[in-house]
Amino acid sequence: MVIARRLAEKLSEITPDADFEAQVILEEALGRDWRLRGIKGGLTVSEDEEKKISEMLSRRLSGEPLQYIVGEWEFYGLSFKVGEGVLIPRQDTETLVDEALKLIKDIKNPRAADLCSGSGCVAAAIKHSRPDAEVFGIELYPEAFAVLSENAARYGVKAVFGDVLSPETAEKFSGLDLIAANPPYLTASDMEGLSREVKHEPKTALFGGRDGLEFYRIIPGVWKNSLKPGGAIAFEIGLGQGERVAEILRAEGFKTSFSEDLTRRTRVVIGIKE
Ligand SMILES: C[S@@+](CC[C@H](N)C(=O)[O-])C[C@H]1O[C@@H](n2cnc3c(N)ncnc32)[C@H](O)[C@@H]1O
Repeated sequence: MVIARRLAEKLSEITPDADFEAQVILEEALGRDWRLRGIKGGLTVSEDEEKKISEMLSRRLSGEPLQYIVGEWEFYGLSFKVGEGVLIPRQDTETLVDEALKLIKDIKNPRAADLCSGSGCVAAAIKHSRPDAEVFGIELYPEAFAVLSENAARYGVKAVFGDVLSPETAEKFSGLDLIAANPPYLTASDMEGLSREVKHEPKTALFGGRDGLEFYRIIPGVWKNSLKPGGAIAFEIGLGQGERVAEILRAEGFKTSFSEDLTRRTRVVIGIKE
């Protein structure tokens, strides 16, 4: 349709996914059935709808991520509220959920904590696949925590406000079967090369200290006593961090293994408490 083609043409100045993004914007502005409206008698767009489309377009052209503009995004087949102050759920992180689910597959009524929960997408995906689980999502930053609380209520997760690097937070949890975490893991030099879109995401969700490993260094020691014997930590990691994260876990007495994502890159490091 003409409107979609024109929108895609403008969007192609800033994104290789212009057609897809145009469809998403039109669906948001005109409703899911906008194509049907077009088929039925030529698509007419009201003044309000046109205003909505042009506002979304100009936000997108200024580099704001599409996900923040739309305010909802999909992860693991579920829909999540997203917005400024919260990391946009990435498809790569679905590997962490797959591995987390394998780790609790033979446990009845498992207890799980998702550290650095952000939108709560990991916690919610676990809870949705395992309704018998008790799942906590822990987040420190108020803007992200507000989004987490909404998504947590939607999917039956328990949202907890707290600093995962602090022993005081960990001490509140015991008898966990699983800790899943996608902590901030970008290095100081990664932070210098961020795309325009990623620069809109909170630095506190991205930066993992000079070498990116700060959270991996602290979490195993601080959280070990919150896990049952045989319980597991599953960490999403950045490219090339696998061996160093596994070493940290082994030094804390965990038995380690690795899992790859769909592109065959090591994406998750697992530590089992012995
Ligand atoms: C990489 S994001 C992951 C978000 C979400 N789990 C996901 O996979 O999309 C890391 C999250 O950790 C939160 N965070 C950073 N430092 C934290 C801390 N000390 N304690 C708890 N959460 C923290 C950030 O606000 C951010 O939401």
